[in-house]
Amino acid sequence: MSEQITAPAPTPASVSGEANVSGEANVSGEVRVSAKATTFTESVIRDMTRLALAHGAVNLAQGFPDFSCPPELKEAAKAAIDADVNQYAITWGAAEFRVAIAAKVGRTYPGWSVDPDTEICVTCGSTEAMIATMLALVDPGDEVVMFEPFYENYGPDTILSGARPRLVRLHPPDWSIDPDELRAAVSDRTRAIILNTPHNPTGKVLRRDELDLVAELCQRHDVLVFTDEIYEHIHYLGPGGHIPPATVPGLEDRTVTINALSKTYAVTGWRVGWTIAPPAYTAAIRKVHDFLTVGAAAPLQAGGVAAMNLPAAYYGALAEEYRARRDLLCGALAETGFTFREPDGAYYVMCDTRAVDPVGDDVALARRLVTDIGVATVPGSSFFADPADGRHIIRFGFPKKLSTLRSAADRLTRLAPS
Ligand SMILES: Cc1ncc(COP(=O)(O)O)c(C=O)c1O
Repeated sequence: MSEQITAPAPTPASVSGEANVSGEANVSGEVRVSAKATTFTESVIRDMTRLALAHGAVNLAQGFPDFSCPPELKEAAKAAIDADVNQYAITWGAAEFRVAIAAKVGRTYPGWSVDPDTEICVTCGSTEAMIATMLALVDPGDEVVMFEPFYENYGPDTILSGARPRLVRLHPPDWSIDPDELRAAVSDRTRAIILNTPHNPTGKVLRRDELDLVAELCQRHDVLVFTDEIYEHIHYLGPGGHIPPATVPGLEDRTVTINALSKTYAVTGWRVGWTIAPPAYTAAIRKVHDFLTVGAAAPLQAGGVAAMNLPAAYYGALAEEYRARRDLLCGALAETGFTFREPDGAYYVMCDTRAVDPVGDDVALARRLVTDIGVATVPGSSFFADPADGRHIIRFGFPKKLSTLRSAADRLTRLAPS
């Protein structure tokens, strides 16, 4: 579930339908499901994708690339299958892959030393990495602080762990954190702060002073950081622009870093990710991970070794290519009349829609964009606990070929103000 929308309000505690082998039916034919499962809903993005397919629309809703992954990954994965690497890998990850992850971290961030034997757990994507981390380190009743607008998985992850989400707003136009609001949200009830930098959906990249504040609060209240860095190499700030929280003084011993092959190497369907954390936390995450999934696909971990061994030039080129995609889409969006702040990182643009949709019905606008214009987006309400907060927003994604983005740009001209 790479893109699942969190609904703020619980939906009815049942789904209609006939009884089946796995469900109890009451007299009215309703099937009982868990209370937890009723606190979030199906993905609006999948809805958008279905609609996009039906209307032949360009899909700028879902965050997956429409271009090839580096050939090195495919060759290594194919060679592993040919060599009969078909059985379970070590549950917390093939040794060679863990060694390669640790080496790549050390090369990318000199001074950050990771022990592949005790500090890494390979998972089925960063999605599993986050839920395994939560289930391993958070207790029912704990509070988990997260920023809003949010990536939709964090709320359900928190609820599934029995904990309570505590939201802190990122303020437009630059999606800044109000230090007083963050201070007020973090207390002795807080178990963890979830960071995501570069950030989906806003494109914000956390600055040193913001991370220093997080470190100060984590130390004061003995809080952990779970940091989702899946867009680590996709930012437009130049070398050193992305600061891993685990390298910030005061956070080294209290951070779980979550990452994956998905975005950096354009293989979202491979489902290979990992956590990096101090040994005691890693031991707990490994236990939970074992019972959740046993392990990530063994031959694809061989592809992961090839990914980790790519030269530094790969990441420079990746950022440059994404910059070209961002500039193309942003140019088209500006001409169309949307207002937005160019993202500093990740591959999404959050647009204020007031100029083209004064009424402020983001869901209706997103539907109209698919059916009348042929471009799929995500309604802003998907990223807020209170849908009203996102009614003047829609999100465009640009992990696409330039030709795909040009086609979307052409279609968007039909929306341009006259
Ligand atoms: C911030 C963020 N984290 C995690 C994911 C999912 O990652 P994975 O495919 O590795 O599970 C996404 C995908 O859109 C994302 O945007």
